[in-house]
Amino acid sequence: MTNKKNVLLCVTGGIAVFKAAALTSQLSQNGYTVKVMMTQSAMKFVTPLTFQTLSRNPVYHDTFDEKDPSGVAHIDLADWADLVVIAPATANVIGKTANGLADDMVSTTLLATTAPVLIAPAMNVHMYEHPAVKANMERLANYGYRFIEPGEGLLACGYVGKGRLAEPDEILAAIKQFFNEQSEQPLLGKQVIITAGPTREQVDPVRFFTNRSSGKMGYALAEAAQGFGAQVTLISGPTSLPEPFGINVIQVKSAEEMYNAVMKRYEYADLIIKSAAVADYRPKEVLAQKVKKKDSGLAIEMERTKDILQELGKCKTNQVLVGFAAETDQVETYALEKLERKNLDIIVANNVSEVGSGFEGDTNKVTIFGNDGTRIQSDLVSKKEIAMLVLNEAIRYIRKIGK
Ligand code: PMT
Repeated sequence: MTNKKNVLLCVTGGIAVFKAAALTSQLSQNGYTVKVMMTQSAMKFVTPLTFQTLSRNPVYHDTFDEKDPSGVAHIDLADWADLVVIAPATANVIGKTANGLADDMVSTTLLATTAPVLIAPAMNVHMYEHPAVKANMERLANYGYRFIEPGEGLLACGYVGKGRLAEPDEILAAIKQFFNEQSEQPLLGKQVIITAGPTREQVDPVRFFTNRSSGKMGYALAEAAQGFGAQVTLISGPTSLPEPFGINVIQVKSAEEMYNAVMKRYEYADLIIKSAAVADYRPKEVLAQKVKKKDSGLAIEMERTKDILQELGKCKTNQVLVGFAAETDQVETYALEKLERKNLDIIVANNVSEVGSGFEGDTNKVTIFGNDGTRIQSDLVSKKEIAMLVLNEAIRYIRKIGK
């Protein structure tokens, strides 16, 4: 456990506020310093005095009630926190934070803090499932906010379903896990995007062009990055692999869909690893009806897809960018050419014609080239081990650019 233990608990209005009181008590008993901030609606359920007594600290609820002239309370609290927890988090506070709104002390502090934020939603099941609420949560997840899933069961409104605030001991466990991870995980608080698998380029309703990528290399990278504490978004082409737990998986099919999914998210990322085998060409025209066979041959006119990695290389600011190169000959020459042309930090070259290396299997053998002239040669080892090698090198770059 680190010695950072300042928890700012933001309590927003819902019947589950009573559980936040129990959580405050448990946090204090476990040695955390807790300061509580409440919205006006939260105070309609439980009074600030309850939280003051349980936390042994003043409770904050009014941005304009500045008791200490030497500071600005919401900014001081935003800076003081090692972790911000919103419990219960209403659809309203989720929506406001996702959209950058700040009209009370809680929402203002949430925008002002640079500390990690843990959100424990609580609301009616239909509200929880509303597309707008889901979109707001997805946006926050993309920004790096973490969620503690609500429980299922009988809700205070009488409905049965998902929306019940997680129990105080579950939230406490998530908070403990956060502080434990922080002390050992080099990618904690970092946003990592990984692409994996093949793409499918449709010819007609029943046929498509694809390649042999199974997604194993990319999924191994995603799981390893998660193990290092990163908030991982895995953008995956069609594979038969199960979606890894706790990773935000975006399923795509074509190169165009992968391009859109990556470009929508890249600017929030600290590290992007492109291990997907993206089609370089697609049929110029996708036919609406199945192509009928004839005695003569068939010519399909192909056009270039967008090169996602090259596009990222053009617009990268302070992201570390890692590409893969699948080669069958002149591996080093082609890999180094891609490293430079696509403006990458690192390229991982695999000779896909070597037995045990590249597509489909559980092993790989790679050379990792850095744009600072480094070169790391792996043995033929599991894709999990390759993932660790690649991530350790990427972490070196993240530290080098001071992130
Ligand atoms: O999925 P597995 O079965 O485990 O196999 C792993 C793998 C062999 C697919 C993986 O190790 C690998 O080499 N991935 C990259 C495959 C590839 O497309 O290489 P490339 O040399 O054609 O492309 C170079 C880089 O540009 C890659 O990072 C690729 O993702 C990217 N690219 C390529 C084309 C395109 N239109 N957009 C891209 O972003």
